[in-house]
Amino acid sequence: MAAVPDIRKRCIIWLGNPGSHEREVLAAAGWELRVVEDARGARIGLRGGDQVAALVDLRGNDPAWLAEMRDLLSRHPDLPLVALCTAVDSGDDVELPGNCLLALHEPLDLSQIRRLQQIVEGDHIRPSSQQGDCLIGDSPALLQVRANLNKFAPVDLPVLVTGETGTGKELAARALHELSPRRGGPFIAINCGALPPNLVQAELFGHERGAFTGASARRIGLFESADGGTVFLDEVGDLPLDAQTNLLRVLQEGTLERIGSRQSIRVDVRVLAATHVDLEEAVAQGRFRQDLFYRLDVLRLHMPPLRDRGNDVELLAKHFLAQFREQHRVRARGFDATARRQLHAHRWPGNVRELLNRVRRAAVVSEGELIDAKALQLQQAVSADDGDGLDGRRVHAEREAILTTLRDTGFNVSECARRLRVSRVTVYRLCKKHQLELEALRT
Ligand SMILES: Nc1ncnc2c1ncn2[C@@H]1O[C@H](COP(=O)(O)OP(=O)(O)OP(=O)(O)O)[C@@H](O)[C@H]1O
Ligand SMILES: [Mg+2]
Repeated sequence: MAAVPDIRKRCIIWLGNPGSHEREVLAAAGWELRVVEDARGARIGLRGGDQVAALVDLRGNDPAWLAEMRDLLSRHPDLPLVALCTAVDSGDDVELPGNCLLALHEPLDLSQIRRLQQIVEGDHIRPSSQQGDCLIGDSPALLQVRANLNKFAPVDLPVLVTGETGTGKELAARALHELSPRRGGPFIAINCGALPPNLVQAELFGHERGAFTGASARRIGLFESADGGTVFLDEVGDLPLDAQTNLLRVLQEGTLERIGSRQSIRVDVRVLAATHVDLEEAVAQGRFRQDLFYRLDVLRLHMPPLRDRGNDVELLAKHFLAQFREQHRVRARGFDATARRQLHAHRWPGNVRELLNRVRRAAVVSEGELIDAKALQLQQAVSADDGDGLDGRRVHAEREAILTTLRDTGFNVSECARRLRVSRVTVYRLCKKHQLELEALRT
């Protein structure tokens, strides 16, 4: 199903002088850049709906310049504002603008851009009271989740968030951060499965200049960037073993070493982790360190599948439709009886994410005011659930595909994952789903 494109633009208004590398990384990450070098007569034009942040570049600019910029910024008190300082400028003698949300002490690179993204998306400025409300639903299963969120948030211990794909694990992790005393600090989410194995260590823990070929400058890792806040390790089961060892050290001692350095750096982060695979089984198979598992699994938050959440499905469907209507002009404004029946009957293997995508799509294709089961494409899906229908054939084809690829690759999971363009964890999950015992097959 085609994703609905996000037509909002992301724009950085750079007050000062960006370097050519900074221009490049911003452009590569899809940001539009507007440079304001001289505040006199300058105006900050904002277009409704766009995601805009101002970055005040304090490097090499004098107090008079800063005073002018402050004057310009005072006309936009709600604009998310970031300051970029050098290590020297970050001393007490430079006063940051009062509404500054974050000071960045490194030239802009990928990890800093992530922090910018969080600011622009409003994670730093949304009042915390709204955060609990992000999780829509009032089923007993969701009330239990909310109760746990409130219980776990203030306690500075790791939380392991479990649940099927699309159940809201990341949303819950963000809510934990926002409800915690760390809410003023950064929230950095990392998908461990999406990081190339050879770059994981550098991304997470940083590196010194010259630590390896291509390391032309010192780089701060995501853990250091999250100092004072929360790191969310998504798909933690995908973390390579050497990175697991370093993560254990962060959890046990609160310290890390950048690659290429022996100096131990203290970091103050709360670690939240999520997995949709059975980590206990990964431990049993030697793919995940047992000691790390115990360190992560201190508090456990389970996100229930949508099919166990009763009327939440209808509540969520209405919420997603209303949200979509705010941004797009569509006729659809509700669901007819067939659609509502099918919403309840469907098994929702992709959970809330599947519902969100079906509702968006239906809102676009629906010609009437009420969305029907056909627009949701749930007629086929529901009838496919019985017996040996379409669903049965799909499951069979999936099993064949994974088995054939495993055989072709001599049961090499990494190679199989590469050929099927999925993560290694997905291969393990599919093996489990289709009762394919890797060890037995190999012999
Ligand atoms: N209770 C909820 N209320 C509103 N939106 C929700 C809720 N749960 C999930 N969503 C939305 O559903 C989508 C999927 O949620 P999220 O990314 O948190 O799931 P996940 O469990 O991390 O998925 P995956 O396992 O695939 O990483 C997001 O767009 C999220 O905003
Ligand atoms: Mg997720």
